[in-house]
Amino acid sequence: MTVGQKQRVFSGVQPTGKLHIGNYVGAIKQWAEHQDSYDNIFCVVDLHAVTIPEAVDPKQFRAKTLEVAALYLACGIDPAKSTIFLQSHVAEHSQAAWLLNCLAPLGWLYRMTQFKAKAGSNESVGTGLLDYPVLMAADILLYDTHKVPVGEDQKQHIEFTRDLAQRVNTMFPGAGLVIPEPMIPPAGARVMGLDDPTVKMSKSIAETKKGHAIGLLDAPSDIKKAIMSAQTDSANEARFDHAGPGVRNLLDLYQVLSGQSREEIEAEFHGQGYGKLKKALVERAVAALEPVQARYAGLTESKDYLEAILRQGAERARSIAARTHARLRDAMGFVAP
Ligand code: AMP
Ligand code: TRP
Repeated sequence: MTVGQKQRVFSGVQPTGKLHIGNYVGAIKQWAEHQDSYDNIFCVVDLHAVTIPEAVDPKQFRAKTLEVAALYLACGIDPAKSTIFLQSHVAEHSQAAWLLNCLAPLGWLYRMTQFKAKAGSNESVGTGLLDYPVLMAADILLYDTHKVPVGEDQKQHIEFTRDLAQRVNTMFPGAGLVIPEPMIPPAGARVMGLDDPTVKMSKSIAETKKGHAIGLLDAPSDIKKAIMSAQTDSANEARFDHAGPGVRNLLDLYQVLSGQSREEIEAEFHGQGYGKLKKALVERAVAALEPVQARYAGLTESKDYLEAILRQGAERARSIAARTHARLRDAMGFVAP
C-alpha cells in the first residue's frame, strides 16, 4: 500500500499551545526534508487535543487547528508531495481506536509516562487521556505506516503502537498490521527550555512563559531576548560532551540549525564566553524562521486555499484508512456493511 517503492511516513502535531523550535527540529523539519524519499501523510491531531478538555476554548481551538495546518505548509510541507489533513475529518481514526481499545491491555496504558505526568494525582482526568496512545496507534496503523518521524518524547508511544500491532496480528492474523518504526533525528530530538534546561521545551509552558521557548511565529526581537537570556552557567565550556545542560542545549540547537559538525562548532565557540554562541544562535534561529513566517503570513490571506488542501488531504487519507479499517473489521469477523 505504498506509492511505487516508497515506504509510508505518518506523523502529527496536536493543535494546542504555542508551536516552538523543538517541534520544528524534532519533528516538522525532518518531515519536510525527507518528503521526496517517502509517501507522506501528515495530520493535525485535533482529536488528541481534546484529551485535556479544560484547555479547550472552542473558538481558539478552531483557529489553532488551522494555524497548525498552515504552519505545516509554511515549514515546507508540499501538498503536491504530502497529504495534509485534520484527524477529525477521517472518521476511521475514532472507529479503529474503538476496536484497538478492546484489544489494548489497560496495564499497558497505566504504564505510559506521558499519562502519569499529565494526570498527576488528578482523579477526574478524562478517560481520553488514558486512551491517548490507542488513538495514536490507530492514526499510525490505519496507514500501514513504516516510519514515524517524532521527537524523543514520543518513543514510548511508538513502542506501544508496535506492541499493540503485534498483539492484534497474533489474535487476528488477517489484520496484517504493519509494524511501524520511530524515526528520531540524530540532533534536536529533545530541545530543552531556554529558561530551565532541566525541562523539555513545551508548547503549553511556551504559551504562558516568555523566555521559555523560541516560538515559530515569534518576532526576531523576542527570539533574541529569549536566547540572550537563556540559562547557562559560570563555566566556560562550549564543548558538547563537557558543557552544562543549558549550554549543551544551545550547542545542540546551533548544530541542527547550522548543519555544521560538532568539531567546527567547538572550534568556533569554545573558550569564547557564551555571548558569542548566543548571538550566533540568534542569527541562525531568525534566519531559519524568517521564510517560515513569510510563507505563513501569505497563507493567512488565502483561507480558501488551505481549506481546499485539507479537504483533498482528508479525501486521500480516508481512501487509505477505510481499506485498513475494513481489513481489521473483516479479520475480527464483523459482517461487512
Ligand atoms: P507536541 O508538542 O507534543 O504536540 O509534539 C509534536 C511533535 O514535536 C512530536 O513529534 C514531539 O516529539 C516533538 N517535540 C515536542 N517537544 C519537543 C522538544 N522539546 N524537542 C524536540 N521535539 C519535540
Ligand atoms: N502524541 C503526539 C505528540 O504529542 C501526536 C500524535 C498523535 C502523533 N498521533 C500521532 C505523532 C501519530 C505521530 C504519529 O506529539
